Amino acid sequence: MDEFTIICSCEEITLGEIETAIQSGAHTFDDIKRLTRCGMGPCQAKICSSMVRQVISQSLDKPLGKVKLPRMRMPLKLTRIGVLAGKETSSSVISVFGESASKEGVNHEKSI
Ligand code: FES
Repeated sequence: MDEFTIICSCEEITLGEIETAIQSGAHTFDDIKRLTRCGMGPCQAKICSSMVRQVISQSLDKPLGKVKLPRMRMPLKLTRIGVLAGKETSSSVISVFGESASKEGVNHEKSI
């Protein structure tokens, strides 16, 4: 990875931007979020939070377990708006991306 590696794909935040935030005094994911918008994209940090915590851990020479988890807000997993509106059930939804892909006729199952 170099400084141009995208860590938060939703907000297009690079490793260099995260390292700059850490050098500016950010020590938690939420600090970095406030400085860079990292974690504020559609996935709400579900994709990037572990990578950012690893960068914090390595940059500050701190064990990963000691790096604070991001503050999570409801819903805690990807949820279709239809489920929230009561028009769909969540039991049939495994992944928002998987379901939307299957509606378009894309088969993600590997043939053996
Ligand atoms: S990848 Fe960072 S908010 Fe989605």
